[in-house]
Amino acid sequence: MEVREKEPKIERVPERELVKELYYLSKINWGVDDGFYPLGSCTMKYNPRINEKIASQKEFLFLHPAFPELAQGALEIMYELEEMLCKITGMDAFSLMPSAGAHGEFLALKIAKKFFIDKKEYQRKYVLIPDSAHGTNPASASMCKFQTREIKSDPRGNIDIDDLKRKVGDDIVALMITYPNTLGLADENIEEVIKIIHDAGGLVYLDGANMNAISGIVRPGDMGFDFVHLNLHKTFSTPHGGGGPAAGPLGVKKELAEYLPYPRVKKEDGKFTLDYSNREKSVGKIESFYGNFPVLLRAWAYIKMLGEEGIRKNSQIAVLNANYLMKKLSQKYDLPFKRKCKHEFVLSEKGLGVRTEDLAKALQDEGFHPPTIYFPLIVKGAIMIEPTETETKKTLDDFAESMLKLFDLSNQNPEYFAKAPYKQKVKRVDMVKANTQIIPAERWERKTDEKE
Ligand SMILES: Cc1ncc(COP(=O)(O)O)c(C=O)c1O
Repeated sequence: MEVREKEPKIERVPERELVKELYYLSKINWGVDDGFYPLGSCTMKYNPRINEKIASQKEFLFLHPAFPELAQGALEIMYELEEMLCKITGMDAFSLMPSAGAHGEFLALKIAKKFFIDKKEYQRKYVLIPDSAHGTNPASASMCKFQTREIKSDPRGNIDIDDLKRKVGDDIVALMITYPNTLGLADENIEEVIKIIHDAGGLVYLDGANMNAISGIVRPGDMGFDFVHLNLHKTFSTPHGGGGPAAGPLGVKKELAEYLPYPRVKKEDGKFTLDYSNREKSVGKIESFYGNFPVLLRAWAYIKMLGEEGIRKNSQIAVLNANYLMKKLSQKYDLPFKRKCKHEFVLSEKGLGVRTEDLAKALQDEGFHPPTIYFPLIVKGAIMIEPTETETKKTLDDFAESMLKLFDLSNQNPEYFAKAPYKQKVKRVDMVKANTQIIPAERWERKTDEKE
């Protein structure tokens, strides 16, 4: 082990200067608390303050993870959270260890690998991934040394069954499905899709990052999925963004439970312990200690507070809000998949007088964070909007008004968009320069006049 011989060189500044700097940075940024943030795929919803209060109680903040069994309350919360997530998803066991959605995917595929090695089905090396999937899906497959086969979407935004049948065989490990998918659509043939994979001996994985649309309404376990990750930092109320903090717990059906990481939280005679036994099949640890505990705490508090009925209502309102906005915007914008959406929907750039990126820039001056753009890749100039359940009708109406106004303006006066945004601290970035003259962070120094 390397031992540090010198003090690390960390610049010392007075507290006052630090506060000024952080406050300044917060002002040039845009967060969920500033206003509408319809960033599709990211579920940027309001996170009740009570969760922050709970997560920052000193009894939790100063817990040392090396003495877990003294912290019976913390173990109880983890135990209960696992139980609640099993109930919500219809899975038989959960690991709270993964620290991001992508980390949950990675763990799932590690488990799939070991599962098939134990079954001596060594020929299985392909992971099937729809062309609308989030980029983390193929990345996770590749990190587990699997190869991927892309499955096309059909004209209604479903998995193309014929393409699936062509690519399925006894060499597949799993199909990774996002449900609802990244177009915001529920696959209309989901039962058939799951059956095709199971008939070929493969596993069906749910990328559950979009559970905000279906929690409390349907359970992936009942639908036939074998395993699922959840993005607690989206659906279950931790601020999402900037790469963290996150938690992507993985739920599995009974036959995969022994493969989960250890230790498992166990309840015995009213006492909670960490169980390191029966771990011959486990894929091992994938995180130091037990996961991202403050995020787990927030999710536990959020689910307890809402209860079963509240969780269902959240999903219903998220879906209602998305359909309301979709209907309004599709008066002018092109809607490539013309059917009811779930929690989000995707428009295309067709008919817009400027590029999608220009629209996004101009929208900032209207007081809105732009939607996700250019994803999913299968829609040209995609504009992906997720309003979430926490916005008022007035906010949705104001946003629709601005979007419709900009649509007209883009055709009447496209030049206006070339230099947008006009009112922001950071103006139009030269994208070519940003990509060709990259300034490494350590060489980047903000000039004082930037504060003007
Ligand atoms: C559909 C989908 N899958 C996977 C992920 C990956 O989650 P994370 O960013 O926590 O790794 C996301 C992220 O938002 C997502 O939207």
